[in-house]
Amino acid sequence: METAELRARLAAARSLTVLTGSGISAESGLPTFRGVGGLWRMHRVEDLASPRGFARDPHLVWTWYAERRRAHAGVEPSSAHVALAAIEERVDDFTLATQNVDSLHLRAGSRNVLELHGKMRESRCTICDLRRPLDDVLVEFTRDGVEALRHDCGGMWRPDIVWFGEPLPRAALEAAFDAARRADLMLVVGTSGMVQPAASLATKQCTDAFVVEINPEETALTAHVDASMRARASDVLPDLAG
Ligand code: OAD
Repeated sequence: METAELRARLAAARSLTVLTGSGISAESGLPTFRGVGGLWRMHRVEDLASPRGFARDPHLVWTWYAERRRAHAGVEPSSAHVALAAIEERVDDFTLATQNVDSLHLRAGSRNVLELHGKMRESRCTICDLRRPLDDVLVEFTRDGVEALRHDCGGMWRPDIVWFGEPLPRAALEAAFDAARRADLMLVVGTSGMVQPAASLATKQCTDAFVVEINPEETALTAHVDASMRARASDVLPDLAG
C-alpha cells in the first residue's frame, strides 16, 4: 500500500485506533524486545518481568528498571510519535492504544492514550496498590537499597508495569476493545503482534476496521491485516500527518 492511499483512507476515517509497540520507540533510539539487540534476547524475562522474579531478587529487578528509566529519560519523542499527536487533532474519534511504557506518546502530545502494559513513570505497592512516582522510589533505592522498597503496609514498591502472567489494567483494556469496535481505520505500528491480548485488537474478532500494519518486518499480525507497509514508522507517519 502506498502512503497516498493511506492518506485518503485517513481523510475519510471517522474513527481511528492506533496500536503501537516498541518499534515506534526504536525511532527514538530505545531497544525493542524481540529483534536483534532486543531486550528479551539479552535478559531472562522470568528474572526481570515476573512477580516470581521480583519476589526472588527485587534488587536485580529495580536495578534493571532504573537503567531503563534512565534510557527513557535520555531520549526524545521521534517524528513518528509527533506525527501521531498531529493526526489526533484531525480525527474526531481517535484512540492510541500502546504497549509501550516509556511515556513517549504523552511527551509527544498525544492525549487519548491507553497504556496497556503500564507506565514506567509510576510505582505501586504490591499489597495495597498505593501509587508513587517511580523516580521517588528510585532515589531512595539508590541511597538505601532494597530496604527502601518496603512499604508500611507490609508490601513492596514495584514498577507499575504489567509483568508476564499478570492481567492488563482493566479500564485501559476495555477502552481499547471499545475503540477497536468503533474504528473504521486502524494502524498497527511497530509491534511483533506476539503478545496477547494487545495483538488481538487488530484481528477481525475485535474490529471491522480496515487495518494497516506499518512495520519493516513481517509479523504475527500480517496475515490478519488488510494491508501492510514494509517501512519504518518515520517513513510513513510524518508524511501522513503533513
Ligand atoms: P517486539 O520487540 O516484539 O516487536 C517490535 C517490532 O517493531 C518488530 O516487529 C519490528 O520489526 C518492529 N520495528 C522495529 N523498528 C521499527 C520501526 N522503525 N518502525 C516500525 N516498526 C519497527 O515489541 P512489542 O511488539 O512492542 O510487554 O512487544 C510487545 C510486548 O512484549 C511489550 O510491550 C513488552 C514485551 O514483553 C511487557 O513488558 C508487558
